[in-house]
Amino acid sequence: MKFGFVSALALAGAAVAATSDTTSLTATLTSTTSISVASGCSFKNGLTATAQSDLDDISGCEAVSGDITISGDLGSASIANVRAIYGDLKIFNSSTITQFAADSLTTITGTLSLEQLTILTDLSFGSLASVGAISYVTLPNLGETGLSVVTECNSLLFSDTNIASLEGVNPTHVEVFNINNNREMTSVNSNIETISSALTVAFNGDDTTVEFPDLLWANNMTFYSVSSVSIPEIVAINKSAGFFESSMEELEFPLVTSIGGDLTIENNEDLTSVDFSNVTKLGGGLVIVNNTELSSVSFDELKSITGAVTIDGDFDNVTMDSLRTVRGSFELESDGYADCSPFKSLAKNGGIQGDYTCSAKTRSSSKKSSKTSKSSASASATDSSSSATSSSGSDDSSSSATGSVSSISSSSTGGAASLHSGSIFATIAAIFMSLL
Ligand SMILES: *[C@@H]1O[C@H](CO)[C@@H](O)[C@H](O)[C@H]1NC(C)=O
Ligand SMILES: *[C@@H]1O[C@H](CO)[C@@H](O)[C@H](O)[C@H]1NC(C)=O
Ligand SMILES: *[C@@H]1O[C@H](CO)[C@@H](O)[C@H](O)[C@H]1NC(C)=O
Ligand SMILES: *[C@@H]1O[C@H](CO)[C@@H](O)[C@H](O)[C@H]1NC(C)=O
Ligand SMILES: *[C@@H]1O[C@H](CO)[C@@H](O)[C@H](O)[C@H]1NC(C)=O
Ligand SMILES: *[C@@H]1O[C@H](CO)[C@@H](O)[C@H](O)[C@H]1NC(C)=O
Repeated sequence: MKFGFVSALALAGAAVAATSDTTSLTATLTSTTSISVASGCSFKNGLTATAQSDLDDISGCEAVSGDITISGDLGSASIANVRAIYGDLKIFNSSTITQFAADSLTTITGTLSLEQLTILTDLSFGSLASVGAISYVTLPNLGETGLSVVTECNSLLFSDTNIASLEGVNPTHVEVFNINNNREMTSVNSNIETISSALTVAFNGDDTTVEFPDLLWANNMTFYSVSSVSIPEIVAINKSAGFFESSMEELEFPLVTSIGGDLTIENNEDLTSVDFSNVTKLGGGLVIVNNTELSSVSFDELKSITGAVTIDGDFDNVTMDSLRTVRGSFELESDGYADCSPFKSLAKNGGIQGDYTCSAKTRSSSKKSSKTSKSSASASATDSSSSATSSSGSDDSSSSATGSVSSISSSSTGGAASLHSGSIFATIAAIFMSLL
């Protein structure tokens, strides 16, 4: 049994909220066309088509009201003449359908959902411009979206397909932008300007580059297995941002001034430079761990951190010169020469409200008067304190929003992803839950 990333998440979502269909994005367009629905073209309980003849029955309709569901043993299928569907168009669970076309369709007010169509190779929605949501899930032989003029779309999800490019899908504002487990997708780029719920790019082609040249703000952002992230205009991350298991060398977010939730940077082997130099406020926790090439971190404008801080690595330089408040715990562990003293002072002044731990190598003094032994070029210093306000043990750094830290690892075939942690389930399930 094979689960795509989203299928597994859907199960997680189901477990959380006992709902059976969490993969469908329910986003309905507010602006629609005014094409009217003739009598006989309205299906209160929806229309289920299992053969082409069922679809031919609606070819006299310019617009159809109600959901259309297509499933079963169709080799090739099409919807002719219909220009608008006031409802969803769902094609699912067919191992025989190879081809589908609906080239007159300009509008689908609900969701265009294609799911589990194992040999679908040709798809054509040549006129489709406005669609509530697009959800393509488990279409392993589909190499192109079949979309060419989509300009309005509230949410989009492409998961477990063979699609290489999002060309032809150009909405300006979306709630969800989720691209995962598409093996051929080596570049994810979009002129999207805002993402109000969640941006996810995970486990696509091994070296997926991510480019959002016009993106101004996004709610949650989550990246796994990408080779670069370029979002040069972004000024705000309204909730969390997470960069995991990726091969990018740098993260450049110089215009971002606030992050509403956690910032997590974890297991990125090639990362050498992180620039969030303009961030003044972090509404969650800060986690920077297992980035083996990263030796310097500075957040020089950062004044307050609402969650906990966990920084672990080979750092020679960790600076947060403006830091005044950390609501959670603070843990810095460095195998390098990072300087603990400013953080120690902050902890003493009560600026760090949770537990404080800092350890790093110390350089032997270069002063001539120093008589440190030559044999130990370096020593290790560990400061720690347990604050009065904290009830937990000093080894506990999980006082707050860092709870979302976890790992998802993709299988070597790239097709499926296994989830190792309950909390990521909850996090990403929440993304889907938020759409219902
Ligand atoms: C999918 O189709 C197969 C037959 O082709 C059927 O046995 C199965 O129940 C269907 N699954 C769903 C979820 O409808
Ligand atoms: C995100 O932040 C931007 C900039 O502060 C703001 O304009 C936008 O309304 C926020 N979006 C959400 C969904 O909160
Ligand atoms: C910080 O942000 C402001 C505007 O938000 C911008 O003018 C400035 O160049 C940014 N600083 C850096 C270091 O990029
Ligand atoms: C960091 O890497 C080590 C060794 O590869 C691994 O055991 C540990 O789980 C990783 N930590 C996180 C938070 O991923
Ligand atoms: C550490 O980083 C700060 C801020 O970027 C910089 O001013 C300083 O020179 C760096 N120190 C070392 C020893 O690299
Ligand atoms: C954003 O991420 C946080 C955890 O990082 C999660 O608690 C929250 O539900 C997410 N929100 C959305 C809208 O996905």
